Amino acid sequence: MSETMTTTTTRAAKKAVPESRYVPEDGLLLDVEDLHVEFHTADGIAKAINGVSFQLRQGETLAILGESGSGKSVTAQAIMGILDMPPAVIPEGKIRYCGQDLLTMDPEVRRKTRGPEISMIFQDALSSLNPVFPVGWQIAEMFRQHRELNKSDAMNEAVRLMERVQIPAARERVKAYPHQFSGGMRQRIMIAMAIALDPAVLIADEPTTALDVTVQAQIMALLEELQEERKMGLILITHDLGVVADVADRIAVMYAGRLVETADILPLYASPAHPYTRGLLESIPRLDQKGQTLAAIGGLPPNLMRIPQGCAFNPRCRMAQDICRQDRPELREIVSGRFSACHFAEEVIDA
Ligand SMILES: Nc1ncnc2c1ncn2[C@@H]1O[C@H](COP(=O)(O)OP(=O)(O)O)[C@@H](O)[C@H]1O
Ligand SMILES: [Mg+2]
Repeated sequence: MSETMTTTTTRAAKKAVPESRYVPEDGLLLDVEDLHVEFHTADGIAKAINGVSFQLRQGETLAILGESGSGKSVTAQAIMGILDMPPAVIPEGKIRYCGQDLLTMDPEVRRKTRGPEISMIFQDALSSLNPVFPVGWQIAEMFRQHRELNKSDAMNEAVRLMERVQIPAARERVKAYPHQFSGGMRQRIMIAMAIALDPAVLIADEPTTALDVTVQAQIMALLEELQEERKMGLILITHDLGVVADVADRIAVMYAGRLVETADILPLYASPAHPYTRGLLESIPRLDQKGQTLAAIGGLPPNLMRIPQGCAFNPRCRMAQDICRQDRPELREIVSGRFSACHFAEEVIDA
């Protein structure tokens, strides 16, 4: 009896450990190069992503920041390989994961990267969980399918994982259904599912938007902890710089499907190098004005079927000159490690 139990436990432990994976010596997990994504619709072609490049290393947290509609989720979906194609088309670009281009990879091989290699947490935990199955069962299914654990080993792993994401009384609650958990607890369950197979890259797409401020901070702290513990590359997508400021190493600011500024978090916070970033910084909700946002940026993001000539931000920019309406500024290095796509970046950063 005890013999059998030992064997089972050992087998469970072995299978639950991720297969050793190849990570390049420089720790470069993701290398997105000149990515373009279009949506071909009856009304025309929406140019959602227009030449996005960035890198993500092991143990690094990259925040992607931008208003609604700037292309954050489409970028994440392109990396995950979950865009509906059509209507989506990727006319150009590379997404290298540990050196291999996911876009030209055999679809079946690529499918196997989802979960164990690259994993994602979505904004809306309730609609991502299946309402008719207990949460523990849903987590256990991942171990059964991907690690071939038997029922009871898989359930034990599910409990262990629920404990890891700090769900109180996990062993009793594995049998509860999604609607029996609070929004914050459901998001913890989503996180548990996303990290179950020990991915190298975790993408969290506005993981706390539906939650109140206190719970947001707790979820962010948990993500940071897990990221450090597992040395994941973490991409945190947000429209709210305040939420990610303590957690992110680097920030990429997105506007109309392009990166307009990239920098380490502290220098960007101290002095943005793009008027759009400055506007976003000025619109961070303040604790003393609960629920209020300063409308720092007037106007609306452009229609992606008719992106303005020159700098896409020019119609909303207080600093716009003729050159901004004519020539599109490239992302260029302003000072070491800081990139901006503004003709007047040097003036903005010094202001
Ligand atoms: N399925 C789709 N069909 C057509 N257009 C889409 C589709 N999904 C996204 N888009 C376009 O891509 C733009 C960027 O969307 P998204 O990446 O979701 O923005 P966000 O930065 O808010 O996550 C949207 O404004 C929309 O115009
Ligand atoms: Mg989105």
